[in-house]
Amino acid sequence: MSFDVTKIREEFPILATQVGKKPLVYLDNAATTQKPQEVIDVLDSYYSETNANIHRGVHHLAEKATEAYEQSRREVAQFIHAATEDEVIFVRGTTEGINLIANTFGNKFIEAGDEIIISTMEHHANIVPWQLFCEARGAVLKVIPVSDAGELEMDSYESLLSERTKLVSVVHASNSLGIINPVKSIIEKAHGVGAKVLLDGAQAVGHFPVDVQELDCDFYVFSGHKLFSATGIGVVYGKYDLLDSMPPYQGGGDMISRVSFEGTTYKAPPGRFEAGTPHISGAIALAASIRYLEKQDRAALLDYEHELLEYATESLSEIEGLKIIGTAAKKVSLVSFTMEGTHPHDVATVLDADGIAVRAGHHCTQPLLQRFGVPATARASFAFYNTREEIDKLAQALTKIQVLFA
Ligand code: ALA
Repeated sequence: MSFDVTKIREEFPILATQVGKKPLVYLDNAATTQKPQEVIDVLDSYYSETNANIHRGVHHLAEKATEAYEQSRREVAQFIHAATEDEVIFVRGTTEGINLIANTFGNKFIEAGDEIIISTMEHHANIVPWQLFCEARGAVLKVIPVSDAGELEMDSYESLLSERTKLVSVVHASNSLGIINPVKSIIEKAHGVGAKVLLDGAQAVGHFPVDVQELDCDFYVFSGHKLFSATGIGVVYGKYDLLDSMPPYQGGGDMISRVSFEGTTYKAPPGRFEAGTPHISGAIALAASIRYLEKQDRAALLDYEHELLEYATESLSEIEGLKIIGTAAKKVSLVSFTMEGTHPHDVATVLDADGIAVRAGHHCTQPLLQRFGVPATARASFAFYNTREEIDKLAQALTKIQVLFA
């Protein structure tokens, strides 16, 4: 292991929390990640030293805040390797990002009878906006099935593609099962029929480097709070020419070029899509978490997370009656499971008594869990600040639960 997990843990103050008499074991990183002190300090100093509205004032603080916000956009662009910072739109999070694309790209380019392809493993945020859109527009939603291991069935995907397909919108890494999808091949095939591709990267960017130009995706969306940063900030990446061809999302201040009662004109991207005062401190905190991550040896973090995943998979597989859902080879570091005779909510509640935080439920992926015939799972999701000792504690607590409920 070429990085020091003890030192890393010290950089995340919340990890020192005691839950009753037990030290916190935070294994709910797919729901939200914890924040390093550096990011907390940036938020604090923004409000004590920089706070002002952006793009509107000529005074010292307004210029300082505007520069910090736009610098953050540049850093996000570099982080995902966008061609220019004008391809980065700040939004509230992944959910708003997908809704933005449905309401702009969708409204302009998808007509009645056109088809949108999603997959069975999508988060509700990548299902419901398209259902709403299809209902309003008369477009048709098609769904890629998943195999017993939780992988997308690529043959079925290919058979769904046609010249009617206008958009393929799939998750990069599943929040519920952790599966990493073969997005490069999905994109190539979609482009082969002239369709655009949107990737939901909420569970990807915090785990492994993403290069939007190398992927050649048309849109990429993610949230700051799953990237060790603040809640309420997220990103829509879009290829510039595509963004430039799209109408605005919300109307309001800061997104216009000129307003008159005879007709209003809009800013070029990304300003056109950022109506109103944005989450300025959130954008600045997002850049801070990116700087934090970029300072690390990301390959070492990824190897370490992979080791945690393998260790957890082995340890949990030994527990009688425990079934892991999502057994594909390529996964981010999370394990979703059921336990015979015990509801996942009871599992999570009993674990909490030991200070262990996991999520239980449908993880906003009800169709996926229906596919596996379960209403809910318990999910332990790891970050690079978790340890083998924490996984031992989880396995011991689950063994106790298994005995208790047997
Ligand atoms: N989408 C988040 C999760 O998977 C909230 O828990």
